[in-house]
Order: sequence, then C-alpha cells, then structure tokens
Amino acid sequence: GDSGNRLVIEDYLEGQEISAFAFSDGETVVPLIYAQDYKKAYEKDQGPNTGGMGSYTPVSFMTSELQDKVFHTILKPTIEALKEEGIIYKGILYAGLMIQGSDIRVLEFNVRFGDPEAQVILPLLKTDIIDIFSAIESGNLGDLKLEWENKSAVCVVLASEGYPGAYDTAHPISGLDKAGDLKNITLYHAGTKKSNNGIETSGGRVLNVVAIHDSLREAYSNVYKAVDLIQFENKYFRKDIALKELNDESTKLP
Ligand code: GLY
Repeated sequence: GDSGNRLVIEDYLEGQEISAFAFSDGETVVPLIYAQDYKKAYEKDQGPNTGGMGSYTPVSFMTSELQDKVFHTILKPTIEALKEEGIIYKGILYAGLMIQGSDIRVLEFNVRFGDPEAQVILPLLKTDIIDIFSAIESGNLGDLKLEWENKSAVCVVLASEGYPGAYDTAHPISGLDKAGDLKNITLYHAGTKKSNNGIETSGGRVLNVVAIHDSLREAYSNVYKAVDLIQFENKYFRKDIALKELNDESTKLP
C-alpha cells in the first residue's frame, strides 16, 4: 500500500554502545558508573536485538575524558533543556550512546534504569539508595556524594531458546540453590514463577546471574561457573559477555 511511498535513509552508526545513567533532582545531575549492555541475541553481536543478554562494568574505553564529555554535552544539557521546557525531571535518566573515537551519538533516552545494566551497577553503589531517592525528592541531591565499590561485575542473562521470538515456558529450573550459594554470585529472577514442583520458566529472559569480584577476569570466569549449575530445558545464554574487555585487541575503539 502507501507504506512504500516515503523512504527514510539514516546514518549507519558504527562504534561501541554504552549505557550512561544519571540521577537528577531537576537541578543537580549526578552521573553513575557506566555499563555495557549486550543487545544482540547471539555471540559476536549477531542476530536480532533483545532487551539485553548481559552486561558488565567497568568499561575501559569510557575514559575520564569521555565520561566528562558525556556529562557536559549530553546528561547535564538534557536535564537543563527539560527545565527550560518547564519539566523538573526528578529520577534516573538513561542515555543509550554510540561511541566512535571521541564522537558520541545518542541512540535513545529512557526515563528508567536499564535491564540488565542495573544488575551490575546497583550492587556496586555503596551509598544507600533510599538516601539518594530522598535527596532527589527533596531537591538536595547536590548534598550527596555517591560512593562506589572499586569492583567489577558481570551479568549473564539466561533466556529461553527462541527469545526474542517465540519460546516455550513452564520448564522446571534446577540448580538455583547451588548457584546462589556460590560466593559473590547473586541471582535475579525475571521470567520465572513458582509451580507445584518448584520454580519454572515463565518468560523469554528467565534469570540474571551476576558475579562481583575485584577483577573483571574473576567476575567473568565465576559468573559462567554459576551459569553452568543452573539447568532448564531450552536454556540459552551468550558465552561472550565482557569477553572483549578481557582481550586486549578488541577493547580498542573502532
Ligand atoms: N538494556 C536495555 C534497556 O534496558 O533498554
């Protein structure tokens, strides 16, 4: 029909994606640590886009110069522009960015945390999040200094095979206790539900397995030990979350 009457040609953006977050009370803007999300369904960033198949932090190509640039050219001006339009934005701002060298492009804004970025960022936040929310609400965010653990975190999403397309559910999940008992491992449930036989799958993204360690290498190897302990039919996950960060050649920006 008429759908082919208009053709839109857009730039193809190359580079590395990064998720940038900031708390704001409408006046003060406080950046969070950066995380990289793995949006593609399959390894080596192949296949369809998903909600996110894994994430890690810290991200080495986000140098302090790049972080300053993101803050001063994107996060802060966005909150200021909202204010000029009469919107006092209180909460969390999420900018999805593409970085190529020192060039930064905004792909999207969201007014929420990222999933699975929150799973690696929030556990490293030492400051009490309720104090942060209170300061946002009362407009005193400028009085708070965010403190962070000097650690690395890797999150691997266990999905139902077929996601983000069609997939089966209601498969029993085993190994949750064993995996959850491992040191420095946390499991976050997403597409799961209780059944008469325990816990079973109920969605596309089923579980988030998060490892937090002093080094990214330890977090990477331990997260996959926990992943291997959890079983359900049609379990699918990417095996390369944070891997490029551990391989010197591929951490270089394109
Ligand atoms: N991880 C991408 C999102 O939360 O939109």
